[in-house]
Amino acid sequence: MSRTSFHFCSLLLAAVLFSLAPAMAQNQAPPPPPILLGTAWYPEQWPESRWEADLTLMQQAGIHMVRVGEFAWSRMEPSEGEYDFDWLERAIAAAAKHGIYTVLGTPTAAPPAWLTQKYPETLRVDEQGHRAEHGNRQQFNFANPTYREFARDIAEHMARRFGHNPYVMGWQIDNEYSDVSFDPDTRSQFQQWLKARYGTLDNLNSRWTTAYWSQTYSDWSQIPIESTYGNPGLLLSWMRFVSDTWRSYQKNQMDAIRAHAERRQFITTNTMGWFDGFDHYTVTQDLDLAAWDDYVGEGHLNPTSNGAAHDLTRGFLRKNFWVIETQPGNVNWAPINNSLDKGEVRAMAWHDVGHGADTVSYWQWRSALNGQEEYHGTLVGPDGAPAPLYSEVEQVGREFAKTGPVLAGTTPKSEVAILHSYDSRWAINWQRHNKNFDPVKEILSYYGPLRAISQSIDIIPPTAPLSQYKLVVAPGLNVLSDGVAQNLIAYVRQGGHLVLGQRSGMKNDDNGLQTERQPGPLVPLLGGRVEQYYALLNPVPVEGSWGSGGDELWAELLSAKSPDVEVLERYGKSNGWLDGQPAAITRKVGKGRITYIGIWPDERLMASAAKWMTDVSGVKPALGPVPEGVEVDPRYGAHDVVYILVNFSKAQQTVTLPAPMQDVLNGGSRSSVTLPMYGVAVISAPLPK
Ligand code: GAL
Repeated sequence: MSRTSFHFCSLLLAAVLFSLAPAMAQNQAPPPPPILLGTAWYPEQWPESRWEADLTLMQQAGIHMVRVGEFAWSRMEPSEGEYDFDWLERAIAAAAKHGIYTVLGTPTAAPPAWLTQKYPETLRVDEQGHRAEHGNRQQFNFANPTYREFARDIAEHMARRFGHNPYVMGWQIDNEYSDVSFDPDTRSQFQQWLKARYGTLDNLNSRWTTAYWSQTYSDWSQIPIESTYGNPGLLLSWMRFVSDTWRSYQKNQMDAIRAHAERRQFITTNTMGWFDGFDHYTVTQDLDLAAWDDYVGEGHLNPTSNGAAHDLTRGFLRKNFWVIETQPGNVNWAPINNSLDKGEVRAMAWHDVGHGADTVSYWQWRSALNGQEEYHGTLVGPDGAPAPLYSEVEQVGREFAKTGPVLAGTTPKSEVAILHSYDSRWAINWQRHNKNFDPVKEILSYYGPLRAISQSIDIIPPTAPLSQYKLVVAPGLNVLSDGVAQNLIAYVRQGGHLVLGQRSGMKNDDNGLQTERQPGPLVPLLGGRVEQYYALLNPVPVEGSWGSGGDELWAELLSAKSPDVEVLERYGKSNGWLDGQPAAITRKVGKGRITYIGIWPDERLMASAAKWMTDVSGVKPALGPVPEGVEVDPRYGAHDVVYILVNFSKAQQTVTLPAPMQDVLNGGSRSSVTLPMYGVAVISAPLPK
């Protein structure tokens, strides 16, 4: 290229860039606030003349995000192939004028009537063989190829239109994946999935021990779907297939969006806390952000179980998450839909942020005038005027705005991890052996006292890297694959303390019995094992270095084979078999340690077991001692730590701080904070050395 033509080209390029400049400028929006308050808004349910009044009230409450579009398929595509997105574009633009960003939901949880009428195979079939009908939601068949084509198509049309919209922050795929289909085509997809996993029928027959009850398969097409009572290998495979199918259902829409949307637009979906209808680690791994719907239902916020559900969600992608739906006061689906108390909604919002939520979004702004959820809590009433709760949410909005700059870029960090596995939860639930043995309750029985001491816990899958933790607790790791066993052994060998709880290491990766006693492949490391387990009719007494107390629901008779194994607790008089036998053992292995707890300790005993676990592992509270009922939630930044304190006790409490700290909410430096019931403090200090 000659000098002149080069010069001409650069001039041309400059001219082109210049002409694009206004468009690029238009295509930008200021970044949304770091801690967002949001609400679900369904503009399609209201005359456009009403939008402005709603958005003005939202802005006044400090709301900066609306979730729009989920369930609006019949408005976006009123008949096959006829699209209307103009109203949606106007809604996004109207919100933007009020400084409100939009998260667009794909509407696939609510297919339009024309679709399912013309293509009935897109409707799911339940286990009894009944096909769902139009009139509710979630009636679609998650594995059906025709449904997937339509889902992809609507997602693609939305992304083409809004993938560059500066006020669209991100995308939510579908809504609360839950109902699956048992139709013949899904069954043959399952059989294909099994073929890919097991290769040969001989392999499958042997790993499932199908010789039992003459279940041996001579053709893949003979394999049924069982979801509650069936061969344990089949049950586990079905749930893994379901998880993979939800993942591909989601990916189908994600790919359509990714092809047309700017990378800054995140993709998420809304999950449901402890819901175990699929393996959330499988399904969420493709997402940019984890998000969940946090509802109390009947009663009041339980900071322990709710906090654990936050930590579980944070563990999906091991980073901050969103509370993408939460209740403004009350729901409409619990047996008694009582309202949260005055101040409790605000306390809950701060509890969310304390556990790593960067957004709290209320469902919903206003009830549809007709529809299944007329009684649900809202921020404005049917008259369009603020509900009593509005002013409390307005306060949250002000507080998020004030504290956002300090909280930006901060995240919880923990010295303690609790391991959680869907395989193990399913395996225990299918064969509880004691009807009251709830694997989530088992996790929470450890979580509560350990959280109170350490003031921060991560809940993560057993495949996660563990070296950052001083203490790793696996309450019910029933299914233990060889890979996970290696991860745990490596953790102990590098100096960590692994605590195994009841029913650990009993099953292999096919949900079959391990051929070694529990904890299976970890027996050599433990230097001891479970000789026998017993479901209990009544609690049995135990005593030892944690004190004396009761063992509930389940008892495991332990033996200490190696001379360096220390017995921590022993059973008292019980069924004869257990009397005087080891109930909890521990062994130092190099710089690390492994402990097995064969009991379900009563609350008092668990508190002292938790104290021992943390003491022996060198775990320290994040802030320091606080009065009972006050929750401490630390979020760490590059230079500072922000402590969110929430008083969930019924009385006023005073927390003495270990050193004077900055009061982010009210300004000034404080050596102590006094909190009324549901009171909140946000304080910050330089990172501890
Ligand atoms: C959620 C759902 C919302 C709304 C809400 C009511 O499960 O995602 O659309 O129905 O429940 O509590």
